[in-house]
Amino acid sequence: MCGIVGYVGKQKAVSILLEGLKRLEYRGYDSAGVCVLQGGKLDVAKKAGRVANLVKEAATHRLNGTTGIGHTRWATHGGVTDANAHPHVSSDGKFALIHNGVIENYAQMKRFLLEKGYTFQSETDTEVLCNLIAYHYAKEPAGNHGTNRFLESVRKALGHVEGTYGIAVLCVDYPSELVAARKASPLILGVGDEEYIVASDASALVSRTQNVVYLKDGEIVHLTPKTFSITTLDQADVSPVVDRITWSVTDADKGDFAHFMEKEIFEQPVALENTMRGRFSEDGSTANFGGLNVTAAEFRQIDRFLFCACGTAWHACLVTEHLIERFARIPVEVDYASEFRYRNAPLHSNTLFFVISQSGETIDTLAALREAKRKGYKALAINNVVGSSLAREADGGIYQHVGPEIGVASTKAFTSQIMVGAMVALYLARMRDMSFSDGVEYVNALKGAPALVRQALAQAPKIREIAKRYAKYHDMLFLGRLSLFPLALEGALKLKEISYIHAEGYPAAEMKHGPIALISDKCPSVFFAPAGDIFPKIVSSMQEIKARKGPIIAIVTEGADLPPGLADEVITIPHCHEAVLPMVAAIPVQLLSYYIAVERGCDVDKPRNLAKSVTVE
Ligand code: AGP
Ligand code: GLU
Repeated sequence: MCGIVGYVGKQKAVSILLEGLKRLEYRGYDSAGVCVLQGGKLDVAKKAGRVANLVKEAATHRLNGTTGIGHTRWATHGGVTDANAHPHVSSDGKFALIHNGVIENYAQMKRFLLEKGYTFQSETDTEVLCNLIAYHYAKEPAGNHGTNRFLESVRKALGHVEGTYGIAVLCVDYPSELVAARKASPLILGVGDEEYIVASDASALVSRTQNVVYLKDGEIVHLTPKTFSITTLDQADVSPVVDRITWSVTDADKGDFAHFMEKEIFEQPVALENTMRGRFSEDGSTANFGGLNVTAAEFRQIDRFLFCACGTAWHACLVTEHLIERFARIPVEVDYASEFRYRNAPLHSNTLFFVISQSGETIDTLAALREAKRKGYKALAINNVVGSSLAREADGGIYQHVGPEIGVASTKAFTSQIMVGAMVALYLARMRDMSFSDGVEYVNALKGAPALVRQALAQAPKIREIAKRYAKYHDMLFLGRLSLFPLALEGALKLKEISYIHAEGYPAAEMKHGPIALISDKCPSVFFAPAGDIFPKIVSSMQEIKARKGPIIAIVTEGADLPPGLADEVITIPHCHEAVLPMVAAIPVQLLSYYIAVERGCDVDKPRNLAKSVTVE
């Protein structure tokens, strides 16, 4: 589910492949490999561990060919070993294959192939597909009906596959050709100058070309150095649409920052500007969205929303729920995409379905969208990656426009999802009972969000010092109420993901119903305590923790005066409009997790066991 890159052209393939794999590292992986086709031979270099290990290994091979494939693996079938790393070569030595995804019926196919005399070097499902292609190739009479025997064998084999795949295949008999295909796993074709690159992610090819074709599920692309053709599994021709990526390779570089996560945290003021750009009405009292494909009249009929997502995007749904219910007074339900897809939820007839996803490739979120569409509901997506599977399958949607997010731990995508949620809430509220002047005030507040986020970012040096004092703990609680309860969940998730400290998020008042049992001087609590009506209640929860010797880090807004000595650490963020508060409150918890992880020496951008987009169930 991690990374694929393939090259056909005039340059030495190995350097382009290794460069592409380095760019894909952020997606999370455990092994890497390349295969170059040269002199009628497939030469494979592969290694468990980082791409850096592979680079050393590849240097010991003479990889001079101009056709090749490269892979980063996130193991699903078989341990993390050199043998299980991709590419896999068929036992007759004719095919090399890389694969992202899972072949669900691999066991039965493997039994069949073993009976036919094919042998296996790995425990993977992928190697089975490679041998199945070889089997069909051996059966296929040469030059049948003027078709390409290589391409047709891949097509035949894929016809038997149940599961998900993004694959790229080489064949020794076709020395400068490559076949690639996808089903529920992303694959993009880069159309360069006398060269083609296929990749699972635009970041692997954008340094060579910004012209791309987004392949759809069930499509197969056949590349030669001068041409490409796309067909479906059923042999129908597909007319390609060449799109242009609007960001360049410098957007995917770290610049002067130590980590992508740090860069992306500090990019948030600009990211929020980009999310808002061109989306307010001329009179400055509401939001406009170009691609929703839902008319105002249709929106009026909606009396319920269902939002689905995973992980951080799910937290953005919870904030959006709060804002829509608070300002537009329309009931919103939020579900985990992975649960919604199987729980056969009864839905009210006038429900509008929304998913939120940075990558637009998360398989559970895609499946939830398909389930809603299958039930006949209109399904919209809030998504960052242009041309993603989700963007293409949704009935309409809103792009976040924050550029590539490389850090596995989502930061700028999260705040921009909240911004979109806040704008949707505004749009819906203005259709109901929010007045013109309240609308103008709300719009001005959103426009002011980047400056307030910048002010919160100015707390970084202080938060870094706090992080040094708290990096040694093993457990932490994050507590918040109302629109900041999802921020407590998000703060805990960020800390777990990158520092491996056990952390939980709770509504602050819920703490006394169980989690308080964890409180001692060994378990600090991070409290969101904004000024407002329930500030005194939050202070009471803090007192309960203080009474049990729990260290307290309080994130307060200006004007929220805590009793002296109650909190051990106080981080002050600016006072803001209710719709902006969750975006600003995200900053201190992102920075705290980041600096704690750095203090603990963790690999912030590539946390263990995690992948940037989870394209398997
Ligand atoms: C975020 O820090 C996580 N890595 C993860 O929870 C992520 O938000 C989730 O997998 C959803 O990803 P998506 O937004 O690309 O769908
Ligand atoms: N299922 C394959 C394996 O375990 C592919 C994993 C991946 O998507 O990287 O090797």
